[in-house]
Amino acid sequence: MTALLVDDVDSAVALLRAGGLVAVPTETVYGLAADATNPAALARIFEVKQRPRNHPLILHIAGIDEMSRWAQDVTTWAQHLAENCWPGPLTLVLNRTAAVDDVVTGGQSTVALRVPASPLLSEMLLKLGTAVAAPSANRYGRVSPTTAEHVVTGIGAALNPVTDGVLDGGACSVGVESTIVDATGERPRLLRPGALSTQMVTDITGLAVEHSDGSIRASGMHEVHYTPDAAVVVTEAADLAAVVAKLRKVNATMRIGLLAVPDGRGGIPDDLYPLTLATTVNELAADLYAALHAADDLGMETVVAVLPAPTGIGHAVRDRLLRAAGARAT
Ligand code: TXA
Ligand code: MG
Repeated sequence: MTALLVDDVDSAVALLRAGGLVAVPTETVYGLAADATNPAALARIFEVKQRPRNHPLILHIAGIDEMSRWAQDVTTWAQHLAENCWPGPLTLVLNRTAAVDDVVTGGQSTVALRVPASPLLSEMLLKLGTAVAAPSANRYGRVSPTTAEHVVTGIGAALNPVTDGVLDGGACSVGVESTIVDATGERPRLLRPGALSTQMVTDITGLAVEHSDGSIRASGMHEVHYTPDAAVVVTEAADLAAVVAKLRKVNATMRIGLLAVPDGRGGIPDDLYPLTLATTVNELAADLYAALHAADDLGMETVVAVLPAPTGIGHAVRDRLLRAAGARAT
C-alpha cells in the first residue's frame, strides 16, 4: 500500500508532469488522473482500468475560468449552472475545442468538464496549471473507490510505484459520482444522476430536465456496473423480510450483508450483517461504495440492499444499487 501513497501535492504534480498517473481524491469518488495534454499518459488510464477506448473521460479543471479553453458554444443556462454549482458534483457535457485530445473524448465532438470540490485536488490543479482527465479509479465495471485504500486494493497492482501515485485525501464526502448534464442543447439533459438533483438543476436554470435515451456513450450507464464480488439483491423496504426468506430457502447458511437506512419500522432480520451505520440517505451515499467493498472483504455471498426513496441523492443511490444488482434503473 505505502509504496504508491503520495502525501503532498507537489509530488503529485511532479508525477503528472513526468507523464505518470495519480489517483486523486474528489468530493465524489477517487479519480485516476493524467495530464490532459499528454496522450501517452491518457492512453495508460484505459490500460490500468481495462476500460474500452471509446468511453470518454471527464476533464477536471481548477475553476470556471478555464472552461473556455476546453469548451465552446456554452449556453447562458449552462454558464449559469456552472457558476452556481462549481466547485461541486456536476459534470457538464459541452462542445469541445481543438485543445481537447481525441483520447479524452473517444472521438466525440463533446467534452465532459467539471470543477471538483476537494481542497487537495484544487491545489494540485492550480499548481499543475492544466486540466487532468480522470475517470473513477476502479477497474472497469467494478465498485468505485471512496478511499485511497480502495484505489490501492482495486488497481494498485496495475500502477507503477515509481512513476505513478495515490494522493490520499481521506474518505470522499459525497460518495457517488457527479451528476452528468448534457448541456449541448436548448435544455439540460440528465445523463447520470448524482448528488445534484434534477430539481436543483431546474431551480437554478428555470428549465425542465430531459432524461437521456441512453444513446450517448456513458460507461456508468451500462446495465451492469459498480459490481462487487457478492451478489447484490435490491428490494423496496416493505419487501425486505420476504426477500430474505426467499434467499434463506435457497441457502439457509449463506452470509448476507444488509445495506439499508433504518426506516423506523424496525423488523430488520437479525441474521443479516449490517454493512453500514448510515442513518440518512446522504450518509448512505457517502458510505455506499465502502460498504460494497466491505462486503467483499468480509466474504459476504450476498448483499441485500434496501432502495432509498427516490428524492434528492436517493435517485443516485437507487441508480447505483440497481446497476450493482444488474437491473435497469427506472
Ligand atoms: O464524480 C465523477 O464524475 C468522478 C470523479 C473522479 O470526478 N468521475 C467519474 O468518471 O465518474 P467516469 O469516467 O467513471 O465516468 C464518467 C462518465 C462516463 O460514463 C463517460 O462515458 C461519461 O462520463 N462521459 C465522459 N465524456 C462524455 C461525453 N463527452 N459525452 C457523454 N458522456 C461522457
Ligand atoms: Mg466510473
